[in-house]
Amino acid sequence: MFIRLVLAFLLAGSVALALQTGQTLNDGIYTDQQAMRGQTLYQNRCASCHGANLAGRTGPPLTGDDFLSNWDTHPLLDLANKILKTMPRDDTGALTSQETADLLTYILQAGKFPSGRAELILNEAALNGVTFPRRAATQPKGVAVAPPLSLPASGNLAQVMRGILFPSANLLFSVQTIDPGVKKPAANAAAPTGEVDWLTWGGGVYRGWEMVDYAAASIAESATLMLTPGRRCENGKPVPVTDPDWIKFTQQLAEAGKAAYRASQTRNQETASESTNQLNDSCMSCHRVFRGRTHCVKP
Ligand code: HEC
Ligand code: HEC
Repeated sequence: MFIRLVLAFLLAGSVALALQTGQTLNDGIYTDQQAMRGQTLYQNRCASCHGANLAGRTGPPLTGDDFLSNWDTHPLLDLANKILKTMPRDDTGALTSQETADLLTYILQAGKFPSGRAELILNEAALNGVTFPRRAATQPKGVAVAPPLSLPASGNLAQVMRGILFPSANLLFSVQTIDPGVKKPAANAAAPTGEVDWLTWGGGVYRGWEMVDYAAASIAESATLMLTPGRRCENGKPVPVTDPDWIKFTQQLAEAGKAAYRASQTRNQETASESTNQLNDSCMSCHRVFRGRTHCVKP
């Protein structure tokens, strides 16, 4: 009896160990049986987009170097949340925590990470402590180095601001009051405002959280447009692309866009709403210095 108790204690101890940080995927953190459940689920709910053998189809591959290099700098929790909060991208309904854990283990098995004796549980603190083992740095296949092509600027800065940053930023700010997760019937597609606007054409094509993802990506990606040489401001003065402050604010804009994307991926209105503070700051701190009566020049 005494021995049994000690054994139970030791076992409990090893389970607790499994929840400690510093574990990697090489430590056998799921069971074969769990991965088999995951495989069945995968075939039913994921294979149509990610391919029967996880090699990708309309969606990206969920195995191989390109996939791993997307995730191996993150704790395993991020990959779990990507699946739980944003997949499957169809109308078949959200996944449960258990389903997500099972699917994740199937992906781990396909990635040749060893199985072990305990099932993987979707425990935030635990998964946040699990990392990918260090790999030799590989140049991801198929990622070509861009040729040194630089297209000349075609709009002035104010046009880029009003045409690209303004609509995307406003969409993100609207998350402060509208929950993108609440499904509503599409607005009357015929000219909601009676004028030319962002909704009249294609207002119902991308909806909800998907729109938030795209607006955030748009902000992050368009930061580089701030640095296009040769662009002018509305008043004809050149955009100060070599000014260290200008470059700093541009980087802050890119960071704010990336942060908004990460926040959107949580599919949590409060988190996404909070991230718009950083976005707002990034717009305002540049405007404070470079906008005003003398557009595009520091006072
Ligand atoms: C209707 C198509 C569709 C279905 C079904 C679907 N996905 Fe995806 N998935 C995508 C697309 C498109 C992306 C890339 C865009 C994005 O990251 O949101 C993606 C991205 C992912 C990623 C991130 C990959 C990376 O390298 O960044 C993971 C992980 C993932 N899906 C897992 C799953 C799992 C698990 C299921 C099944 C429950 C599933 N997906 C079902 C379309 C789909
Ligand atoms: C790196 C500096 C910088 C950043 C970052 C920046 N802006 Fe601007 N913005 C300017 C400057 C300079 C102008 C004036 C443009 C001109 O005169 O051509 C401007 C003008 C504008 C205008 C036009 C205002 C008008 O007079 O109609 C809008 C709208 C705008 N910005 C929105 C944004 C939003 C939204 C963000 C953040 C998502 C942002 N900007 C981030 C520098 C910046």
